[in-house]
Amino acid sequence: MIILIVGSGAREHAIARALSLDPAVTQLHAAPGNPGIGTLSTVGGSPATLHGVDATDGVAVAALAGAVKADLVVVGPEAPLVAGVADAVRGTGIPVFGPSGKAAMLEGSKAFAKDVMAAAGVPTAEPRVCRSEAELEDALDAFGAPHVVKDDGLAAGKGVVVTDDRAEAIAHGVAIIDAGGVVVVEDFLDGPEVSLFCLCDGETVVPLQPAQDFKRAYDADAGPNTGGMGAYTPLPWAPDGLVDEVVRTVAQPTVDEMARRGTPFVGVLYCGLALTSKGVRVVEFNARFGDPETQVVLARLATPLAGVLLAAAEGRLGGIDALEWRDDAAVTVVVAADGYPASPRKGDPITGIDAAEEVDTVHVLHAGTTLDHRGDLLSNGGRVLSVTALGATLTEARERAYQGVDRIVLPGSHHRTDIAAKAAAEADA
Ligand code: GLY
Repeated sequence: MIILIVGSGAREHAIARALSLDPAVTQLHAAPGNPGIGTLSTVGGSPATLHGVDATDGVAVAALAGAVKADLVVVGPEAPLVAGVADAVRGTGIPVFGPSGKAAMLEGSKAFAKDVMAAAGVPTAEPRVCRSEAELEDALDAFGAPHVVKDDGLAAGKGVVVTDDRAEAIAHGVAIIDAGGVVVVEDFLDGPEVSLFCLCDGETVVPLQPAQDFKRAYDADAGPNTGGMGAYTPLPWAPDGLVDEVVRTVAQPTVDEMARRGTPFVGVLYCGLALTSKGVRVVEFNARFGDPETQVVLARLATPLAGVLLAAAEGRLGGIDALEWRDDAAVTVVVAADGYPASPRKGDPITGIDAAEEVDTVHVLHAGTTLDHRGDLLSNGGRVLSVTALGATLTEARERAYQGVDRIVLPGSHHRTDIAAKAAAEADA
């Protein structure tokens, strides 16, 4: 099977790595990919090929898919999905794993997602859509602190502010409105958060294993929101039956509602959930695999990935065997650039990846990296690397991941030291 993966982050590296380990995959192509993806090769020894194609250019991606004779295109990030890249590929007749532009509005517009949830009876926080500062202030007063203020549209992980500080909440909302956007204010959902990815073929839902990510920049959930600083799976503390409940009450009704609207959802429905005292509530939907949770979820997936993604793209998920999972735990720690998330510095040399990968089970996934003219690796973004490890327990997986992190040298970099720490300690107790 020849596969083209669209995107350039650590999530795409994790997907590409899982595909490279699938004996059914004969060629891997990436648009544009990253230096880490460029080091992969298939089980048969064919090196991955990077193509300098803009991931959000549907015409160019579709042309590339045809040129490389792709059997399947996998679109990773939200921006190409919302831009309709999956539609452009589907138009050529090539199977594509990723929702149409219309279906990706589940992520592209928070207000749209709330409308679908209301129609489908999916439990979520009550939203208020605000188009003026007066509406924003009314909504903040109605819900009280902590304030949850979201950009309705895509904002590359910077759209959501959760704060007790009313002035900060107003400033965030007004900045969105002043830029011509729309703000969604919500009631705060208390309780631990869980990410559950559901593979969907427009009709059938197949859940993966739940994971938890760490969105704040610094230890103990201090500092600003980020795209995610680390993740782990499994969740030993999660209630029995959680996955079945989320499929029954959240994912399946949403997929059914999208089909009823004539915009079937094909791809990953990322259910961002809060386990509140009143039960499971949806915090957000995303229309793609999460980053960095994918790094740990796919590290544990034993079923070869390509056939599953192709089945989803071709509407055949109802016929696949149950997914198989490794017993191991997985932990990933993000190494971020100096200044991330406010103003990440680029161009710093990165060394130590080979040494990190000498630690048992550690693999280092690239996100914000690039090669200079000499072939040396430099930082080129905020979240630079995801250092991922497996272990018999969460404790072992996190020890290995942090041994890997300690061997990476990136001037000015920072990372959280408490990824999975609480869950590991509870599981060991
Ligand atoms: N981990 C958060 C996200 O992927 O949006």
